[in-house]
Parts: sequence; structure tokens; C-alpha cells
Amino acid sequence: MAAHTEMTVQGEVELLPKLGDTRATPTWHEAPVVGNRHIADRYWALSLHAPTIAAVVQPGQFVMLTAARRHQATPVLPRPMAVYDVNLADGLLHILYGVVGAGTTQLTSFSPGEEMLCVGPLGRAFDLVPDTRHLVLLGRGIGICSLTLLAKQAKLIGVPVTAISSSRSPDSAIGSDLYRAHGVHVREVYDSDGSSHVQRLYDDLERTMPQEQSTLIAVCGSRRLLQMAGNLARSRGAQIQVSLEAHMACGLGYCHGCATGERSATDESPLICQDGPAFSYVVQETTTSSRFQASVSPSRSSPQSRSATG
Ligand SMILES: Cc1cc2nc3c(=O)[nH]c(=O)nc-3n(C[C@H](O)[C@H](O)[C@H](O)COP(=O)(O)OP(=O)(O)OC[C@H]3O[C@@H](n4cnc5c(N)ncnc54)[C@H](O)[C@@H]3O)c2cc1C
Ligand code: FES
Repeated sequence: MAAHTEMTVQGEVELLPKLGDTRATPTWHEAPVVGNRHIADRYWALSLHAPTIAAVVQPGQFVMLTAARRHQATPVLPRPMAVYDVNLADGLLHILYGVVGAGTTQLTSFSPGEEMLCVGPLGRAFDLVPDTRHLVLLGRGIGICSLTLLAKQAKLIGVPVTAISSSRSPDSAIGSDLYRAHGVHVREVYDSDGSSHVQRLYDDLERTMPQEQSTLIAVCGSRRLLQMAGNLARSRGAQIQVSLEAHMACGLGYCHGCATGERSATDESPLICQDGPAFSYVVQETTTSSRFQASVSPSRSSPQSRSATG
């Protein structure tokens, strides 16, 4: 097992809702289950027929899945799941999920032909800004599922992609098949052999990444990888976007249960379901101390995150 030391970000960090908002209005579907099978370790692959969502979902967006059937009382709340892949021709949404508790355990009981309540697409997507010349994807565990559509989009428009997929061991690695199917160079790293150690990854990327502002690093599933990306952004001039996770009751911005907890002097804490899950992560050069602070610029906040200030 690798000893995971924290890598402190050398600078002051801001978490900003991204500019612009081009997301489609979410819709509700009793989506027919097309497939639901165990793939590896604790992971399952679910396919739903939801053509309306498949047609508009953007990289990093998610859906809320209700694991209770019509006649079942629990689990009451839907569970957020990233859209791992879409098949536009067949109107399919593909989701990879890890079994952790009651909701995901119940998801495994669905068979093809049954219907599952699915709401989406939800949240703010990653932005592949037009001048991006190189995309680096840093994903860990199930977090990799939020990055795969971004890789697909980048390859479609000719942006080179480097993906690092971190997991406990080769048995629990997921997502690489999809990356490779889209011509993405993916490097799997594991805790079991120490190759996932962040300092080692940092040294490699620092040596090989092009020095330019137009590199975008997208991160999901690991605070350590995010902190490493923060230091890369300083040394290599890259931009960072991160997809954050939280327990979500509604996914729609109503319950305020998914607030990041990061407040500025004037703004309410951003909501992960509404202002994210993809945020810009900005590392300032100016201070010697390191802290994780979310500061939402008033001009960028969504109406939801501004409700506390009127
Ligand atoms: C935007 C977003 C996208 C996601 N995409 C995926 C995905 O593609 N595939 C996938 O498998 N999972 C994904 N998740 C996480 C997934 O929603 C949770 O694993 C799921 O809700 C757990 O439900 P449960 O009823 O099985 O477990 P619960 O009984 O609710 O929880 C079981 C255990 O997991 C922990 N847990 C539950 N939810 C979270 C969470 N969001 N963050 C951290 N710990 C949690 C609980 O603290 C508890 O220890 C995503 C979460 C978010 C917010
Ligand atoms: S989950 Fe309800 S506001 Fe975000």
C-alpha cells in the first residue's frame, strides 16, 4: 500500500462557479433499463433508454436515479450518478456505479425491461474552452466516470488527451476501456504498487506536460490529485476544473443540502448540484500560506447561490 502524504497547494485557492451556463432543462423519465451487470470489484454498468437526456447531456453532468420502484417506499431519495457515456443512435445513457449502501445495492436488483425514474441532465458541465490545446484528466475510483465524456468530446474536436486513472489495485480500475476506445492515452496507477503516489505523479507530469496556459486539467474523485493539479497549474501554467461530490437529496438546487461549505464574505456557499459539480479551481500566486477557500464572484454566481444575499 502506498503511503499517501498530503501535497499542500503552494498558494491561495479559489473555487469558482464557471462562467456561462448552457445546460438544458432537466426532464423526468421512467427510463427502461436496457442492461445492468456486474463488471468488476464493487462496480456495475447500467444502461437506460433515455433519449431526451442522452441528446443533451454534457461532460461532467449527472442524473438522479431513484432506486425505489413504484410500489417501494425506500430508498426515498434519488442518488446522483455521472453520465459515463451516451449512445445517441440508440438513445442510451451509460452509468457505472459502485455499490456502497442501500441505494446502490438496490440499483443492482434492476433487470432489463424494468423502468427506473431518472432525472437529468443536472449540474454544470466541464468547459472545454476553445483554445484548449491539451487536456489532462486526473481521476480516481468512481470519479473517473465524470471525466469520460470530456475525453470523448476532446478527441472529437482533435484535442490531445492524457488520462491518469488512479485506483486501489488493478482489480478495481475502471474506465480505461472507454478511454482507449476513443484513442485516449491512459495510464493506470495503483495504491497496491505505489504508482499512485502523488509526488511521483507530480514529478512525471511536471517533466512531460507542455508549458502553456492552454492546458486544461480536469480532476474528479481525489483531493490529493486536486492539490497536485493545483501545484501543476502554478508550475506549468495550466487551468483546472474539478468535479466535486456531495450527498444530494434533490440535485435541483432546492434543498441546499449539498452546499460546499466554503463561504466568502458576501456569498452563500456554492451548491454542488447547481453551481457545480464542475467548478473552476484557481490557484493564486500571492500568498505563502495555503488554504482552501471558495470565493464566488457576484457576477458569476447562479441565482441559487445568491439567494442568501438577496
Ligand atoms: C455529481 C455526482 C456524481 C456521482 N457519480 C457517481 C457515479 O458515476 N458512480 C457512482 O458509483 N457514484 C457516483 N456518485 C456517488 C453516488 O451518488 C453515491 O455513491 C451514492 O449516492 C451512494 O448511495 P447509497 O444509497 O448506495 O449509499 P449511502 O447509504 O447513501 O451511503 C453509503 C456510504 O457512502 C457514502 N457516500 C454516499 N454518497 C456519497 C457521496 N456523494 N460522496 C461521498 N460519500 C458518499 C456515505 O457516507 C456512506 O458511508 C456521484 C455523486 C455525485 C454528487
Ligand atoms: S442536492 Fe438539493 S440543493 Fe443540491
